[in-house]
Amino acid sequence: MIYVHRLIARAAAAVLAVALPGVAIAADAAAGMQKAQVCIACHGPEGVSATPAIPSLAGQPAQFIATQLLMFREGKRKDPQMSPFAANLTNTDLNNIAAYFTAQKLTLPAVTADAAAAQTGANLARQLNCVQCHGPALLGQQHIPRLAGQQREYLRTQLRGFKASTRFDMDGQMTSAAQPLSDADIESLAAYLANLR
Ligand code: HEC
Ligand code: HEC
Repeated sequence: MIYVHRLIARAAAAVLAVALPGVAIAADAAAGMQKAQVCIACHGPEGVSATPAIPSLAGQPAQFIATQLLMFREGKRKDPQMSPFAANLTNTDLNNIAAYFTAQKLTLPAVTADAAAAQTGANLARQLNCVQCHGPALLGQQHIPRLAGQQREYLRTQLRGFKASTRFDMDGQMTSAAQPLSDADIESLAAYLANLR
């Protein structure tokens, strides 16, 4: 298992090296936008999803997007809808697409959800220190995703998946972080995060 993780880390590093500024091939957001036209059918215009089960990509850290696409392409992370769209992307495509979506703004409608659940979720997120990895405003950083404003149903499914060890996790950190969560905790966290503006 450790060996597999090391291999994945090495593959990710190879791709991500390309995304670093100053390295020969700079990410090209305009080329990424062309490649991203097939993605918006599911992920929404400019990567702002209107579908509960499908994540928004707008404003996600570029490194997170590129890493996840790599994991889908290599068959580590699997989803019947998503996997075919990653299968034929080159390393350059991954980085260009990431550069495009990271630059889009996650514009969201006004908060509608239930305030009590969101307040419980806010307290839990504080106690469990989700900001330690996901960043002070839960906007993500490097290979760690933005959670603020993400689709509620998607957040719920992923948290359940980490807890059950069915969602792929590159370094196991998130799987550990999800272990203490009850179903009720997951509901409140998803309500809080989805409504975070
Ligand atoms: C047919 C619908 C569909 C299309 C088209 C599609 N995706 Fe996805 N995508 C999904 C679904 C569903 C998921 C969530 C999978 C899961 O639950 O693990 C996903 C997940 C992702 C993720 C992980 C996001 C996260 O927050 O973990 C990225 C990145 C992504 N897609 C990028 C793309 C890109 C880039 C394209 C176009 C090249 C694309 N997708 C096309 C349905 C689609
Ligand atoms: C020790 C670091 C760490 C902590 C603490 C942590 N996370 Fe994570 N989280 C990660 C990493 C790394 C990933 C990406 C995992 C991967 O796909 O390889 C992630 C992914 C996620 C995702 C998937 C989002 C998506 O777009 O696919 C959700 C949801 C999430 N975390 C919620 C939380 C919540 C809620 C907390 C607090 C209870 C939390 N995390 C605490 C590191 C952490």
